[in-house]
Amino acid sequence: MTAPGVLLLDASGPESVALARAAAVRGHAVHAAATPAGSTFCSAEFIGLLAGRVLTDFARPSRAVQEITAYARRHGVGAVLTVNEYLTELAALVCAELALPGNDRRLAHAARDKAAMHRALTAAGVRVPYTRLARDDGELREALGDARVGLPCVIKPACGAGSAGVSVVSGPADAIAAAGRARAAGGMGGGGDQHLLVQAYAAGAEYSIESITQDGAITHLAVTEKRVTSGSHRVETGHSLPAHLPPEIEKAVYREADAAIRAVGIRHGPSHTEVMVGPDGQCTVIEIAARLAAGHIGFLIQHALGIDVFPALLDVALGRRATLYPTAHGHATVRFITSPYAGRLASVTGLPRVGPGVPFVRWRAAIGGLVHAPRANAHRLGSFGVTGPDPVEAEERADALLRRVRIRIDPAGEGGSDQDSPASTSDIAS
Ligand SMILES: Nc1ncnc2c1ncn2[C@@H]1O[C@H](COP(=O)(O)OP(=O)(O)OP(=O)(O)O)[C@@H](O)[C@H]1O
Ligand SMILES: [Mg+2]
Repeated sequence: MTAPGVLLLDASGPESVALARAAAVRGHAVHAAATPAGSTFCSAEFIGLLAGRVLTDFARPSRAVQEITAYARRHGVGAVLTVNEYLTELAALVCAELALPGNDRRLAHAARDKAAMHRALTAAGVRVPYTRLARDDGELREALGDARVGLPCVIKPACGAGSAGVSVVSGPADAIAAAGRARAAGGMGGGGDQHLLVQAYAAGAEYSIESITQDGAITHLAVTEKRVTSGSHRVETGHSLPAHLPPEIEKAVYREADAAIRAVGIRHGPSHTEVMVGPDGQCTVIEIAARLAAGHIGFLIQHALGIDVFPALLDVALGRRATLYPTAHGHATVRFITSPYAGRLASVTGLPRVGPGVPFVRWRAAIGGLVHAPRANAHRLGSFGVTGPDPVEAEERADALLRRVRIRIDPAGEGGSDQDSPASTSDIAS
């Protein structure tokens, strides 16, 4: 019997390559769905692994479901997956149509649209920040005047991702500009989103919970500790795992994550739940996504815990039991390199090399290209991972390697400088 085909919705980023590789190694034909304009297949390796592709417009979901399911039936597809946050609802609809293991199609929207998410999480009793929806300037003013929102507050697009258009606002004067940024950034691919969330600010330390659900049974693989920029734009500059929380807090974090996973209908597949743990130990859910964490977290899990999440995700999508037991007990961390200010990137030196304890180094900014002070994840220039048996040593090594990275920026407004600058360190909140 031939192995069923595997279809990836969109295919950008190293996680898609890893999934395609895991599928191809096991003898599955790998297919991808992509938009005709600006198809984002990530690498020559990915294209080399492809048995076929279907072009469809993701922005027209009903038609996309029809075209993708017709293609999937023709090619014997037995698993549909995506690592693209914007396509998790489409994946649930396609899986339901094809009767493949997937998430609840009626709730899948709530794992994508933060307004629907807020309603679903609140109804399930999950602890979330107090939130108002603002569809126009009048509602924005009302929300800002609501004492339960308070200041500082957070303004974000309902359908955004990658921290684009998310601002921490300290007063009404900042709010109009923040709302403008949120409206411009939200929607698929930053296509605009008129629905904004105005949210109470949850103070604390930020973590995410990486989980895989099979037939409704949830396995938490790891808690990830974040480094995030301070100030009005919050961009993740580092992830470390596994985080070791005090048992009572870990229990509370898992309890909220379990409730959130169920509330948004995740039954078969990965989830990434972002939480804030306050100084009082209370856990507040910031958001949940029905996908594997981005930011190389899938690779960190592999290096630190010996769980290869990519074949595991494939198993779950095929309806087979996945192996999710840790076979290692190490530590893994990633540092993202950012520019302290906007300008043109003239040079970068001191990047670490892949070697023992440094499993990956990625650089995506072009020399001569524009770079920005970090306002969204897309402004990160590159990254590298560090692993080791001891968390303290691995973290110290990662910080030492980051200090050696020097970037030279030619000024192009926003207070640029032609001095060599340490990359990112100024942006990392302790
Ligand atoms: N209510 C809040 N209180 C405190 N900080 C918040 C709040 N909402 C968002 N943030 C900060 O802003 C960041 C981005 O917000 P959020 O996760 O909601 O947006 P996103 O675009 O979905 O992000 P990503 O896709 O990068 O996870 C969070 O990781 C957190 O640091
Ligand atoms: Mg987030």
